[in-house]
Amino acid sequence: MEEIGVMTKVSIIGQGYVGLTISLFAGEKFAVTGFDMNNKVVDQLNLGISHIEGVDSEGLEKLIKKNRYRATTNGADLADSDIVVIAVPTPLTADRKPDLSFIESACKTIGENLKKPALIINESTSYPGTLRKFIKPAVEQYSANALEHMYAISPERVDPGRTDFNQRNTPRLFSGLTEEATELTRNFYSKFCDHLVEVSSPEVAEAAKLFENTFRQVNIALVNEFAQISHSLGIDVYETIEAAATKPYGFMKFSPSAGVGGHCIPVDPSYLAAIAEEHGAPATFIRRANQVNREMSAYVVDRVQSDCGGSLAGKSVLVVGVAYKPNVADTRETAAELVIDELRLRGALVQWHDDVVGQWKDEKSSPLSGAQIAIVLTKHDGVKIESILASSPYVFDTTGKVPGAVSL
Ligand SMILES: NC(=O)c1ccc[n+]([C@@H]2O[C@H](COP(=O)([O-])OP(=O)(O)OC[C@H]3O[C@@H](n4cnc5c(N)ncnc54)[C@H](O)[C@@H]3O)[C@@H](O)[C@H]2O)c1
Repeated sequence: MEEIGVMTKVSIIGQGYVGLTISLFAGEKFAVTGFDMNNKVVDQLNLGISHIEGVDSEGLEKLIKKNRYRATTNGADLADSDIVVIAVPTPLTADRKPDLSFIESACKTIGENLKKPALIINESTSYPGTLRKFIKPAVEQYSANALEHMYAISPERVDPGRTDFNQRNTPRLFSGLTEEATELTRNFYSKFCDHLVEVSSPEVAEAAKLFENTFRQVNIALVNEFAQISHSLGIDVYETIEAAATKPYGFMKFSPSAGVGGHCIPVDPSYLAAIAEEHGAPATFIRRANQVNREMSAYVVDRVQSDCGGSLAGKSVLVVGVAYKPNVADTRETAAELVIDELRLRGALVQWHDDVVGQWKDEKSSPLSGAQIAIVLTKHDGVKIESILASSPYVFDTTGKVPGAVSL
């Protein structure tokens, strides 16, 4: 590859939260092709309409006008890429094991279409060894021509909805399978990222990403268990956490909730546990943390049931906030799903209110009123505390943001 510069052709596979975000930053310096399998998404993107919160349509439109961005569903458009970034989902299978099928299909697109050697960078989250033992062999297997590509990893750390940290000021880990791949990767990201952190192998970068999210998952489970302990002791969990947080060192504050959601925290630790167990290493903390977080839904419903006469059968319950976190419309892996399932299992008549999400699982957001019981799972900034408290005679809050409600 020539020196990285304005003529460098960058293709980004997957135009979701990660892929589109990176496309806009990379588009300031390079010509970017955004490849996605979803026709509707691609058509919208080419009209300058962003489907991702935090990625503004105006920026997209500007890049399109400057011929710096084009979306496509046609793999052949990747043929002369210099750099290909993989940003596709890495979910869990139905039995909660790593599902690399999207990565495999991205490798197929690369293998079948690239016509010259390129630098292939994986940004999707996966277990250590994915780049070396899965991506490289898969691309080679699907390549009809014997091209020698370079491979690197740079795990994505974007936090959707966050404004203080972005691609430019969030430190980025990276490492290549070869020195040349490492250097080109540094060069590429240095054009739009201020803090680059080289690590000694792709496996370290892959493991660090998983460990970051596992750290959060385990600490959230700990505080969720602590909420249950506090309640059993008649102590206010929030006051206790605030008190502990006055220690200026050695403590980091986490807040209890009805469980964890999103694409990362409920998913990534299971990637680490799976590879650990494959190598005969215990992952007991991770497995237990998963269990505690997933069981919070039943704990919340137990608390509500016991406060409301011991049975929820036939009672109308309004779940307030089904997005996995405030101020986003994302419902992936949301704890609301487990809570609503549990409520319905116990015979409650459940509706939900979330005007940021609007529509979810073939149901529409209901008005914030008229229920016998309200359970707050996510509080968006635009939802008024007074409206929540007025929505029903009994309000149970799992967010710590609704003073006046019964809290965790
Ligand atoms: N969303 C986050 O906050 C976040 C943060 C850090 C890391 N990650 C990781 O980044 C990766 C991508 O996550 P995301 O949130 O951007 O996912 P997403 O679901 O928002 O977007 C993925 C996109 O990839 C497309 N796609 C799927 N398979 C494809 C294929 N074979 N070829 C082309 N397009 C394909 C989908 O249509 C979709 O538009 C995951 O590994 C995730 O764990 C996500």
